[in-house]
Amino acid sequence: MSHFAYRDGQLHAEGVPVAALARAVGTPFYCYSSAALVEAYGAFRAAFAGMNVRVCYSLKANSNRAVIATLLAEGAGADVVSEGEMRQALAAGVAPGEIVFAGVGKMAREMRAGLEAGIRQFNVESIPELRLLNEVALSMGRRAPVALRINPDVDARTHAKISTGKAENKFGIDLGHAAEAYAEAARLPGIAVEGLAIHIGSQLEELTPYRQAFARMAELVQNLRASGHPVRSLDLGGGLGIAYQGKAPPPLADYAALVRETVGGLGLDLILEPGRRLVGEAGILVSEVLYVKEGVSRNFVIVDAAMNDLIRPALYDAYHAILPVTEPPSDAPVRRVDVVGPICETGDRFAEQRPLPPPAAGDLLAFCAAGAYGAVMASAYNTRPPAAEVMVRGSGHEIVRPRLGYDAILAMDRLPAWLAPPAARKSRGVG
Ligand code: LLP
Repeated sequence: MSHFAYRDGQLHAEGVPVAALARAVGTPFYCYSSAALVEAYGAFRAAFAGMNVRVCYSLKANSNRAVIATLLAEGAGADVVSEGEMRQALAAGVAPGEIVFAGVGKMAREMRAGLEAGIRQFNVESIPELRLLNEVALSMGRRAPVALRINPDVDARTHAKISTGKAENKFGIDLGHAAEAYAEAARLPGIAVEGLAIHIGSQLEELTPYRQAFARMAELVQNLRASGHPVRSLDLGGGLGIAYQGKAPPPLADYAALVRETVGGLGLDLILEPGRRLVGEAGILVSEVLYVKEGVSRNFVIVDAAMNDLIRPALYDAYHAILPVTEPPSDAPVRRVDVVGPICETGDRFAEQRPLPPPAAGDLLAFCAAGAYGAVMASAYNTRPPAAEVMVRGSGHEIVRPRLGYDAILAMDRLPAWLAPPAARKSRGVG
């Protein structure tokens, strides 16, 4: 059930009218539904009931601490790809033993931080990375728990920019080199190799690529074991899609059945790293219409959110449904409009030729399914403070990330001494 729905003609987030939030917080803002997060996690968990599966929520989808803590309270661990995300997970209360550290370019200091914290495992993506981790661990008198991320050379059939499992993608160790890499990992004294990992892409809308990839991993596990290597764990990554444009995504039950069939019988500790599927539909971005500009060939609806707040349409031509916050009458006329932000780029466009009941200045619009890869990808481009973030629970709401003030943004920069105003130059001893 959607936790964003019309009630008495007004879009609500759970029990809270979105328009009331806009008045309280100002626009643009992200609004997350606590109940939607809990429900998405519960459905995911339930699909894997009875299986030895650990769910490590992929923080990259949304690393707001309130979101992490909500999922943690339901039992989730964390998949992180940077020291920053690891710190966010720890700050939210995730136990170090429930944290998986992935990523193709870990730095020595990040490895050190992970070892110091005592995380569950590093998913290692190359031989040079494996060797560096070995050195770092030995220098600390530790052994680093490791899963080798394998590139299974499978086409995830998703957007090219978020497809990660083909041999030409930068991710993972080629399947053909996996046995060699595993043998090397087993020899390195600073490495405790526990198993394997994969992640073939994001926003997968069909299950066939998973079936191919998981089957290849099952075969690899058996081959490694036949050569005398213990393989205890398998991390299957994330990537399950959501419905952005009506098309139903693969059902969780089918995904779980696939996992059971392909790798369920191998006696492995399984890890899953869902991101989008847990948080995508639990968030909306709310924006106010600034102007409606009637063009010669197009009508533009100019809103106060922009590509610095939600970059997915500009970056991936992604579709986000747009709902007027005040429910239009069912017989309202519909026109095709371009919904655009104020940033000085043609790509700052949320929707092209989208049929909508014609909005007017001052109207509020909600961009749907914006809980994943929305706020986390925001920037201050055009020196625009990114959208605030709010979480709703029942009939209450709290600001979970305030909008940065201009003072905070301006205070980030420093002038070099040679450009400082004369008075400051004198006090800093510069001619
Ligand atoms: N595990 C690994 C190793 C990953 O690289 C990713 C996503 C995930 C798990 C989580 O995938 P999910 O379940 O969320 O699909 N910014 C893009 C998506 C980038 C995904 C990167 N990796 C977007 O807005 O569509």
